[in-house]
Amino acid sequence: MRPNLARTDETELAIRPLPFGTKAQRRIRDAGRTEAHDIRLDLLYKVGKRASSASEVSKMVDEIVTMTRQTLRASASSVLLIDEERQELLFEFADGAAGGVLKQVKLGIQSGIAGWVARHGCPIIVNDVTRDKRFFADVDKATGFVTRAIMCAPLVTRGKVIGVVEVLNKLDGSDFNKQDLETLVAVGATAAIAIENSKLHQSVIDGYKGTMKALAAAIDAKDPYTRGHSQRVVEYALLGGVALSFSQEELEVLEYASILHDIGKIGIADSILSKPGHLNAEEYNAFLEHPVIGANIIDGIPFLNAVRALVLHHHERYDGLGYPDGLKGDDIPMGARLLAVADTFDSITTDRTYRTALSAEHAINELRRCSRDQFCPIAVEAFISAFEKRLQSLLRPDSLIAVA
Ligand SMILES: [Fe+2]
Repeated sequence: MRPNLARTDETELAIRPLPFGTKAQRRIRDAGRTEAHDIRLDLLYKVGKRASSASEVSKMVDEIVTMTRQTLRASASSVLLIDEERQELLFEFADGAAGGVLKQVKLGIQSGIAGWVARHGCPIIVNDVTRDKRFFADVDKATGFVTRAIMCAPLVTRGKVIGVVEVLNKLDGSDFNKQDLETLVAVGATAAIAIENSKLHQSVIDGYKGTMKALAAAIDAKDPYTRGHSQRVVEYALLGGVALSFSQEELEVLEYASILHDIGKIGIADSILSKPGHLNAEEYNAFLEHPVIGANIIDGIPFLNAVRALVLHHHERYDGLGYPDGLKGDDIPMGARLLAVADTFDSITTDRTYRTALSAEHAINELRRCSRDQFCPIAVEAFISAFEKRLQSLLRPDSLIAVA
């Protein structure tokens, strides 16, 4: 049985001295040390680089922890974040064979070695968990994984522990050592800052989205017939975007553009927007200005740079007869083509001043009838196939809610 290195002051680790040897043996040993040092430095460089690139937090943590596990030659690794309200540790990321099951596991902050590290903010190596009372065996029971050794470091940012990073079992059965722990602590420090930055970034985005939704609701409220229009257009446009395999960034741009597409109506007189019946030529020309007004409103907001083009071109037609620029075919951004389809589908299927709502089937026929002339055929078919799939999934018996 290997000795248990964990002590009351777990940051002080007993490291076995290297055996005294010949000059040649020392040279080989020193060369090995240098190589291991380089590998760790390379890991920290990659972690820093990955952490500084803005992206979805879960994807970033996923990559950082996988790199760490590979470099430290461990069997499994995970990051657990603290849920302050529930006083629990949640597996934000877990790889290895048991990763999928672990993501369902919640650990009380009083439980396990990870809980101890989270509470005390100290890193730790336990090379034989059977000799450590803090070890919480229930996680292994849930996953079927057999934990032999754990190395765990806190994720600390602005003096506060927000979670822990841990690696389990060296692949070759050897012990984790002080250099391994130093590497894990450094990775934890970088990951903690990256996680915190991502959360701050997300809260700014959420703030922007809230403001955008409030603006869109203000526009929708100008006309009782278009209440909720922007939110429905978001849902329809995203159905098409997902069907066309838009990237996460492209979907976000499409979402924001869908929320804001009619923001320019803020500059159009209420007497025009809420006029019962058809508009005269002068009123109609004024109405046609709303995409340009909308694009001008969001012009100069760097966060909405890519959104601007979609707002500006959401009334272009595939045959070039739309407005404001008469763009044709592929010259119209794909997001704007999808937005046009989603906008029209919602207009047809909701009550208007001049008619009552028509069925989804009627709207689909109309989109297909106008495909190639008014609408991009790819956008039309992507939306229709995704909409019909969604409808079928909602109509499946297992998706129905039982009513007593
Ligand atoms: Fe519009």
